[in-house]
Amino acid sequence: MRVRRGMERELALEFARVTEAAALASGRWMGRGDKEAADDAAVKAMRIVFDTVQIDGIVVIGEGEMDEAPMLYIGEKLGTGNPPSVDVAVDPLEGTNVVAKGLTGAISVLAVAERGCLLHAPDMYMNKIAVGPKAVGRINLDAPPEVNLRAVAKALDKDIQDLTVVILDRPRHQELIKAVRQAGARIKLITDGDVSPAVAVAFEDSGVDVLMGIGGAPEGVLAAAALRCVGGEMQGRLWPEDEADVARAKAMGISDVQRLLTMDDLVKGEDVIFAATGITDGDLLRGVRYLGNTAKTHTVVMRGLTGTIRFIEAIHRFDKKPNYIGPKRF
Ligand code: FBP
Repeated sequence: MRVRRGMERELALEFARVTEAAALASGRWMGRGDKEAADDAAVKAMRIVFDTVQIDGIVVIGEGEMDEAPMLYIGEKLGTGNPPSVDVAVDPLEGTNVVAKGLTGAISVLAVAERGCLLHAPDMYMNKIAVGPKAVGRINLDAPPEVNLRAVAKALDKDIQDLTVVILDRPRHQELIKAVRQAGARIKLITDGDVSPAVAVAFEDSGVDVLMGIGGAPEGVLAAAALRCVGGEMQGRLWPEDEADVARAKAMGISDVQRLLTMDDLVKGEDVIFAATGITDGDLLRGVRYLGNTAKTHTVVMRGLTGTIRFIEAIHRFDKKPNYIGPKRF
């Protein structure tokens, strides 16, 4: 008889249902210029569906501290309360501006791992580099961009000119962008949402090869969970902006903010599940399609223990759904 280890595999589908619900609810707000409403819809839907899942979950990365965020706050319990005991990282709407403006790459995303295995990342910046399985062991966050790109190109059996590097379009990345251009690689500048491309680098036909630069630390842990499942790699280092950031990091258990964070710091062990549903079209996932009485979602769900990656296209009938994701939003 096969011995079951870790989280039951059926949970993967349960988590896909959670991100699907958030995406269905949030996608209604595409292009309406109201990022708070888009986020609120995602949070509410995600929260409701989470409570039907058989886990004893605690939010370690969520919508904020208990006093400022009513739902999915850090420390909040999720699920039915039955084993397994797990850490939960969520971003019900990753890319609030993206949805508000109707741009590309917004997703609803979560990662779940054995209790104590996800880094409790403070809500601050992190400098990151992420690559797919073939380039594991070839990157070094502290090396100049050109050195990393040369190593990644070699690992992927490409010329540097064939590489596409994803970077958030921010003034803080001026030097990085210059260095990557000098190295000869192509660049995809994104307005927001660095989780989706950090995961996409693990898929050879996604059109992106490396993610570089400074984005959110919580987003770093979410992406690292996916890279753990697919066998990719991320390295990160917190990028505090002031003493308050340093204090926040320390309060969350990261005493040395300068430390290079490797995969084992970001996501320990292999008992990890990652799920993401596209809200707007992106490198990895298509956005929600509303088709009148139905809607179509596109989700990826991965398990670290087996390394299985599933892309799920689902059709949802609104006449059978509770109204928090139903069609009449306005
Ligand atoms: P939100 O979903 O909270 O809007 O964050 C989106 C995001 O673009 C992340 O993907 C990224 O890591 C971070 O914000 C970058 O922060 P900033 O916009 O301050 O540069």
